[in-house]
Amino acid sequence: MLHKLIRRKAERQNQSLVERISRSKKECIPSHIAIIMDGNGRWAKKRALPRVAGHHEGMKTVRKITRLANDLGVRALTVYAFSTENWKRPKLEVDFIMRLPEEFLGTYLPELIEQNVKVIMMGENDTLPRYTQNAIRKAMEATKENTGLVLNFALNYGSRAEITQAMQQIAQQVQEGTLTYSDVNEELISQHLMTCDLPEPDLLIRTSGEVRLSNFMLWQLAYTEFWFTETLWPDFDESCLLDAIDSYQNRNRRYGGLKGEDTN
Ligand code: FPP
Repeated sequence: MLHKLIRRKAERQNQSLVERISRSKKECIPSHIAIIMDGNGRWAKKRALPRVAGHHEGMKTVRKITRLANDLGVRALTVYAFSTENWKRPKLEVDFIMRLPEEFLGTYLPELIEQNVKVIMMGENDTLPRYTQNAIRKAMEATKENTGLVLNFALNYGSRAEITQAMQQIAQQVQEGTLTYSDVNEELISQHLMTCDLPEPDLLIRTSGEVRLSNFMLWQLAYTEFWFTETLWPDFDESCLLDAIDSYQNRNRRYGGLKGEDTN
């Protein structure tokens, strides 16, 4: 196993990006990749820049990674852009992040349309500033017929709030008599989550060396493969995404069961 990993690393170092992409496409590509984009503040601090400069650079990484994920044939890419807890940050920083969807989509919507990318959002929409809501709504409308990668912005998103809301909806239906308690199963709960139209993530990436979930997709990540890297989000590039996918392609997913020779 160790020899195999060392050999693959050496092979990677000698391959161009184009070769790596073509090689990656020959193996199983994760259908849904979810990313906790962390380390923007530290990236800026290392350069003696304000924290918001890190978020701005991080926005450019979203563009880069979306293009490659789409090219590889990934079906959905969920990016954690703002959590329900991030409101605790200084107002200046919150205001800056809330303007980013407008800037990102104002700049890149034409190329997202050209690349057949479909933009969606999960999170509490109503409490976002009007300009943020408008930018997202416009992009969703303009890309709703697209059939390529689904780019899902987790914005003002918190997994516990999402699960709580799902439970309230189900409880109300039981109370009204349209469901009985025995109808409540995993499938029904999944259908009430904000990800009801997406496959569960196959691969979760968190950048910047932090190793926690931070209230992100707690239900959906039950059988997801995790990949953590020290790389700060603004430095995360195509080669980093291919490293993560390469690692995923070498995992043995068992979903609690056994596979192959282990069953003997
Ligand atoms: C965490 O890094 C990052 C965020 C809370 C914001 C992430 C937002 C982006 C990458 C831009 C999103 C782009 C669009 C298009 C909406 P941190 O600030 O916690 O970093 P630190 O841990 O180094 O301080």
